Amino acid sequence: MTERLQTKRQTQGALGILIPYAKVYRWRLALVFCLVIAVVVIDLAQPYLVKEAIDNCVAVARPDARAIILMTAAYLVLVLLSFALTYYQEIMLQSVGQCIVRAIRIDLFTHIQKLSLRFFDQNAAGRIITNVVNDTEALNNFFTQFLANTLRGGFSLILITFFMLQLNVTIALYCFLLIPVIVALSFFFQRILRKVNGEIRNRFATAIAFLAENLSGMAIVQIYHQEAKQQKKFDDRNKALLKATIHENRMHLLFFNITELLGDLGVAALVWFGGRGVIAGSISFGVLYAFIGYIRRFFQPINTITQQLNVLQASIIAAERIARTMQERPDIAELPGATAPMIRGEVLFAKVSLAYRPGHTVLREIELTIRAGGRVGFVGASGAGKSSLMNLVTRFYDATEGAVIIDGKDVREWPLDALRQTVGIVQQDVTVFSGTVIDNIRLFRQEIAEELVREACRLVGAERFILKLPQGYATIMSECGSTLSAGERQLLSFARVLVFDPKILILDEATASLDSETELVLQEAIHRVSRGRTLLVIAHRLSTVQEMDYIVVLDQGNIVETGDHGELLQRQGHYWRLHQSGLLLDEAV
Ligand SMILES: Nc1ncnc2c1ncn2[C@@H]1O[C@H](COP(=O)(O)OP(=O)(O)OP(=O)(O)O)[C@@H](O)[C@H]1O
Ligand SMILES: [Mg+2]
Repeated sequence: MTERLQTKRQTQGALGILIPYAKVYRWRLALVFCLVIAVVVIDLAQPYLVKEAIDNCVAVARPDARAIILMTAAYLVLVLLSFALTYYQEIMLQSVGQCIVRAIRIDLFTHIQKLSLRFFDQNAAGRIITNVVNDTEALNNFFTQFLANTLRGGFSLILITFFMLQLNVTIALYCFLLIPVIVALSFFFQRILRKVNGEIRNRFATAIAFLAENLSGMAIVQIYHQEAKQQKKFDDRNKALLKATIHENRMHLLFFNITELLGDLGVAALVWFGGRGVIAGSISFGVLYAFIGYIRRFFQPINTITQQLNVLQASIIAAERIARTMQERPDIAELPGATAPMIRGEVLFAKVSLAYRPGHTVLREIELTIRAGGRVGFVGASGAGKSSLMNLVTRFYDATEGAVIIDGKDVREWPLDALRQTVGIVQQDVTVFSGTVIDNIRLFRQEIAEELVREACRLVGAERFILKLPQGYATIMSECGSTLSAGERQLLSFARVLVFDPKILILDEATASLDSETELVLQEAIHRVSRGRTLLVIAHRLSTVQEMDYIVVLDQGNIVETGDHGELLQRQGHYWRLHQSGLLLDEAV
């Protein structure tokens, strides 16, 4: 029980993340809430005004035409005023809500960018996207729906109660008898609706996830003729979604109609009892009219408020998820006061072990020294741990045991930005961002001159294909990034390396076999970019390995052999077997 209470308190605390954002807009929010209250007062004054008109101007011995016109004019003014204020208040509330959402989104993105790669291993991109897009939108509902409607509903109820009691205490008390019925009904239906809504959200997410997976894997779907099967699966998911949605609609309608019916019954009862009162002369006709107006308005706020419980719950869940992301701390953090050493480019692995997950060691006690300016090739079967070893140098992950030491300093004691300026990487899959070719190479750093970028492209031999693109260097890559060949992408990332000029360069060679011409261009590019740098190459190509001063053979997380190409072949061990089995690709013929 205490545990449940505690979790309840914690979850409600999640909404606390909104406070700093709401504070920025406190005056506007306060104005919105004043407007909400004003609108309620104006709306509820209407039946009262009509009652006054009936009792004092119409149902009297000598009806006063001038007074009726005045009353009508006043009524019209109230209606127009209510319309204008509601409009203004809604617009303002929506804009405050959206501004808050925007601020939270930016903060979330900024925060997520700082997180370590481990976070991205554990959280699928889809979940993070939902977090940044949908959960923030759910928080918007907290302001625009929950706060506004609860305030409006609560205040309406209080005011209606006040007006009713003011008009006639006995009838008012009879009307209040309906409150428990409507509250019970609301709770009953809201519980069902909440469940159905959760179901809809789940099914919707499943359908979206399925769609996303299929879009990115379209080539596989088509090549294996899976279209019909996938279509059937998609259809099933959509059917499930449709069923849940129809169920929800049905429940909604039923609830709506039942409350309407209750309202009608209330009106009928009023006419019955009140009518008799009017005939007996115990109440005026105006009072009866006003009661009818109020009882109709009585149900709406009760409904709205109970509906807000769902909004509140959804907001809390969203806030919790956002808070959880915000609470994630990067496990790769910088030591306070870290300073960079003199940069030469020497890399030392001192008994380095790595386990991504406890118990699953992927690197075991790696011992290796790479002198500044050295060129080392890493080879090994798939899954041997080559990329993992490189992940430690860039500090995408930290070693579980031992240390990676660059220029005499443990990488964990380096300032992160200095480390990442020193260590550059060209990955197997080159990411292309939406933007021009130039921006893709200088990674949107406007301070890097275009001429420098062109120079780099010329040096690595990328200019040839870039000039063939529709707008040359100014071609926007979002549309054709995916149409670049693997070799062309690698050339782009070589140009990046030249522009950013890291002292240590890690190269994860593309595994795909390339045509001999591209192969030659790449070979030349590697040659050029590696000049004056320490080079760590995960090599898949014989032509690359042969050029290295030194080759390290990895197998299941261990260094099993080292030496140059000739020595290793002579030894007829692991390297030789890799070579024989064709794992090292010969130049394309
Ligand atoms: N982020 C990660 N989280 C958990 N396990 C991982 C992660 N990255 C790699 N592994 C595991 O670590 C082992 C080594 O993977 P690694 O990527 O280093 O292999 P590799 O030698 O680079 O292979 P390839 O030549 O196919 O790129 C594999 O068993 C892999 O499943
Ligand atoms: Mg790899």
